[in-house]
Amino acid sequence: MEQIRDRVFKHKNYNFLVGHTTPEYIDSLESFEIKDSDVFVVTYPKSGTVWAQQIIISIHELHGNQNKYSNNMERMPWLEYKTAEYTLLPSPRLFASHLPEHIMPPGVKEKKAKILYLMRNPKDNVVSFYHFKCQITGCIMPLYSFASSWFDHVREWYLNREQYNILFLTYEEMILDLKASVKKICNFLGINLTEAAISQVVEKATFQNMKNDTKANYEHLSPERFSGKFLRKGQIGDWKNTLTVAQSERVDQVLQEKLGDLPLKSNLKPVNSIH
Ligand code: A3P
Repeated sequence: MEQIRDRVFKHKNYNFLVGHTTPEYIDSLESFEIKDSDVFVVTYPKSGTVWAQQIIISIHELHGNQNKYSNNMERMPWLEYKTAEYTLLPSPRLFASHLPEHIMPPGVKEKKAKILYLMRNPKDNVVSFYHFKCQITGCIMPLYSFASSWFDHVREWYLNREQYNILFLTYEEMILDLKASVKKICNFLGINLTEAAISQVVEKATFQNMKNDTKANYEHLSPERFSGKFLRKGQIGDWKNTLTVAQSERVDQVLQEKLGDLPLKSNLKPVNSIH
């Protein structure tokens, strides 16, 4: 285990938060038993994870799975941060994760468990990450002491997609048409909801409603454990208020170098349409 400063340790080429997980637990994920009914939301941090959590939890709730949990983190815990005895959770188990593909439990490759991979254009992503980090540790560099590179995360998941039962969705699609995105997710999960129920999911997942929803906004976490706000602006293109033209061009260049050979870029269109 390589310790990077005192907040983060590097393991399996990924930077984890000290005090939240251990290399031993991460290693144990290799034999983590997967159930066919398991559902995962996988994201690079700041791609809208809490949003997808709220949507998937609401869909299951409206499908008749009683939600007796006091917050979304309890209902849909983080795979890499063991906060409960996961083998004892009732089905369908719902998990969130920022893990890169190479650390995901191999059992997910049996193709029955479902993964929603949510991604967001890298400029808004980095700006969201920047503000988030400012709230927690101050606006110090380097920005990416936690996690790994956005480009590697997206590339690795995308290149290995055939091995999984996976739906790729973008934050931008969700912003532009939340209802259509909810329907897409329902379809992927094999859950049929009435139009009225779908509208209810959409309503619970609007930025404003989530901001005020104590189950969804992570405000249950004690300030010692966590002091950042997950719901900040919730917009496409906010990067224009932070990145310089040179920084924006640099992201375009790296995007081209790292992902230019993949058909992915069109999904992240707002990257190219501004500036
Ligand atoms: P901003 O910082 O750009 O506002 P994550 O959950 O992966 O940490 O992602 C957080 C980002 O998703 C934040 O982006 C947050 O505002 C945005 N987000 C969360 N819920 C949202 C919602 N209901 N609608 C739009 N954006 C949302």
